[in-house]
Amino acid sequence: MADILTKESPFTPGKPVQPEYFVARTKEIQRIERAVRQTISGRNENIFISGQRGIGKSSLAGFVRSLAEKEYSLVGSHCHLGGINNLEDMMGAIFQRLLQDCTDKSLFDKLKKGFSNYIKGVTLFGVEVEFTKDKRELQTLVNNFIPILRKITDEVKDSGKKGLLLILDDLNGLTDIPQFSPFLKSFVDELATSGKSLPILLVLVGLPERRDEMIKHQPSVARIFDIIDLPLMDESESREFFGKTFAEESITVANEALSLMVQLSGGYPMLMHEVGDAVFWQDTDNNIDRGDAKQGIEEAARTVGKKYIDPQISRVLRSKTYSSILWRIGKKLPIGGPFKRQDLLKEIPADEQKNLDNFLNRIKKLGIVDDAEVKGEYRFVNPLFHLYVWYEAKGKALT
Ligand SMILES: Nc1ncnc2c1ncn2[C@@H]1O[C@H](COP(=O)(O)OP(=O)(O)O)[C@@H](O)[C@H]1O
Ligand SMILES: [Mg+2]
Repeated sequence: MADILTKESPFTPGKPVQPEYFVARTKEIQRIERAVRQTISGRNENIFISGQRGIGKSSLAGFVRSLAEKEYSLVGSHCHLGGINNLEDMMGAIFQRLLQDCTDKSLFDKLKKGFSNYIKGVTLFGVEVEFTKDKRELQTLVNNFIPILRKITDEVKDSGKKGLLLILDDLNGLTDIPQFSPFLKSFVDELATSGKSLPILLVLVGLPERRDEMIKHQPSVARIFDIIDLPLMDESESREFFGKTFAEESITVANEALSLMVQLSGGYPMLMHEVGDAVFWQDTDNNIDRGDAKQGIEEAARTVGKKYIDPQISRVLRSKTYSSILWRIGKKLPIGGPFKRQDLLKEIPADEQKNLDNFLNRIKKLGIVDDAEVKGEYRFVNPLFHLYVWYEAKGKALT
């Protein structure tokens, strides 16, 4: 019993993973490492890490930061810009984060001195700084971004480091404002034409739509950034993920259980953590068997359903016909694979068939199902979504 009370899950659903628990993504890391090497030789490099929500963008950025700091002597900063929608506030956030992420005390003191006009508050024994919110003051930082970065990298080099890694994450509010992409474009152009090197690696992190928005405002942004598009993890990466994470807690995993977890989380790191966490709490003997995996997955499907599908689907389910079609899909179709419109038609009473296409369009728009490779075939965007609908459908009487 004591064991259960004190045990701690190595899975972190909803949070970027700690570098020690990071797995796979070898190719992507190698590409970014190449850019890191260019950076320390004095060249500015720019990367855009793109991919759908929950695929592991922030985790990859965080991992690369710790690698760049440890192995390449870069000074790294990971700035979350969620909720920021103008360049002035962006400047405040970037430099405030840079200071806060700075682990070298003497460098921190120098930077703090350099920004003293902008720092309005210092808390927590002087290690937390708060930048001004005054737009006019912050405008100076926008206008002098490159000279300021030059000063900072000079200080960075004086402190024995080789350059700067700036990660700008959660760009949602910025990519669609007309000033953002031209700002980046002129940053890169000015650096290129100045002839003076600046060892900065700029890493932007965002959904593919955000990149498209930036390109819409400034087409040459497409050329500035080396795009790293994160795919789903494949089977061996997923196996590595579960195997390694459970092994960290000295828990063994039966092969059958591993296969089930891999199959039903569909290569989504976000869902892998939900599944791993739920299975972890089912286990009582430090060995995950098929039963633990099944119960954990059932639990995870419900959690994921409540978190990600319910808010969307409740709107669909207000229509009685739609809900009846959805429960039929849940009950009758095999989990994981694609399903044919034709096969669905067979499951639906004649008087509801006319609604099928509208229904499919609707749940496609909501991000619950997607077109499969073959025309006329669909699949749930991930197997857990299907599993959730299946569980929900179990309790429903269908006529
Ligand atoms: N390479 C990885 N190794 C282990 N866990 C990962 C990895 N990539 C992502 N995760 C996990 O997946 C979830 C989503 O990752 P996150 O980086 O927040 O995604 P994004 O930024 O793309 O929305 C988090 O729980 C995170 O811990
Ligand atoms: Mg993220």
